Amino acid sequence: MIPISVVDIPAAAHDLVSDVLRSGMLAQGPKVARLEELAAEMAGARHAMAVNNGTTALVVAIEALQLQPGDEVVTTPFTFVATLNAILEAGATARFADIGDDYNVDVDSLAAAITPSTKVLLPVHLYGQAADMVAISALAESRGLAVVEDAAQSHGATQAGRPVGSWGIGCFSLYGTKNVTTGEGGLVTTNDDAIADRIRVLRNQGMRARYQYEVPGHNYRLTDLAAAVGIPQLERLGEINAVRNRNAAYLTDHLADVTGLTVPPVGADRGHVWHQYTVRIGPDALLSRDAFVEALQAEGVGCGVYYPRPVYDYDCYREHPRVIAGDAPQAERIAREVVSLPVHPKLSEGDLATIVSTVRKVLGC
Ligand SMILES: Cc1ncc(COP(=O)(O)O)c(C=O)c1O
Repeated sequence: MIPISVVDIPAAAHDLVSDVLRSGMLAQGPKVARLEELAAEMAGARHAMAVNNGTTALVVAIEALQLQPGDEVVTTPFTFVATLNAILEAGATARFADIGDDYNVDVDSLAAAITPSTKVLLPVHLYGQAADMVAISALAESRGLAVVEDAAQSHGATQAGRPVGSWGIGCFSLYGTKNVTTGEGGLVTTNDDAIADRIRVLRNQGMRARYQYEVPGHNYRLTDLAAAVGIPQLERLGEINAVRNRNAAYLTDHLADVTGLTVPPVGADRGHVWHQYTVRIGPDALLSRDAFVEALQAEGVGCGVYYPRPVYDYDCYREHPRVIAGDAPQAERIAREVVSLPVHPKLSEGDLATIVSTVRKVLGC
């Protein structure tokens, strides 16, 4: 079986983890500080704060904006549920725009979804590709809105050479399947000194110093043990992303002519980091999307559907007083067509050839 993702921890992490174990100080300390330094570099941002996962990164980012009850955050419905759960956890109301062919939020639809209650635009950089941050930043500025970037899947992605996490408040996940992982973990990046300060206080029980409580906060701290796992990965992020890019280029070169399959679009000014390589299986394909998934798996090629439905389309959100679904026909159609193929850095040339020949075989091309 060729797996859809593989965890690849550099050998250097073993030594760093041993350092932490020997030091006897496992909680937040110097390794977290080093991870934060590297994260700030990755995002081209002045500040990076490590937290215990990508969802809490989003929660503190939104909380740092000090919204009032009824304030709205506009986002994409084509995302992992954490994006929506974080908005709700932070006490805000979620409203949805539709997406474009690149799977990311469509800027015209985003503009149309803005109401007098909107305070935040929350694009998701899905699958490793930046949303149109040039346009979204201009839109936010013209309407006086804050921007939170869900960059959970996009460590090192860029638009016009500028990294994600530097446009608004950037929120990254370090979950086990992500391009950079600490098992569980997260990062928040920002160029705003006041926001960075608030996030550092919020993640540590609302304390600026021991027993000086400024706001009701959380324990969202990351451990040095986890940071030690992430440091060598961030140090070689360029290399990891380059291999993912090579793998994606091979797949696109060899699959672009397959009837009924659409290879993933890449914007001309985007630096894609290929967290997922996601194709669409359309109505003119030999098999339905679901039959294609079954056939691939039966042939030993791992694949996954991210995500089968727009995130508002579940009973627990349909009746939720702080979830405003709106109309997202493009997201609904694309959710029925997507399937992700393996693109991770541990794929051999033989694996890539097998993925291509298997996809072509099951689609009769
Ligand atoms: C788009 C998106 N947002 C947020 C998250 C939340 O990250 P975590 O699982 O680290 O809480 C994830 C990852 O799982 C994600 O894919």
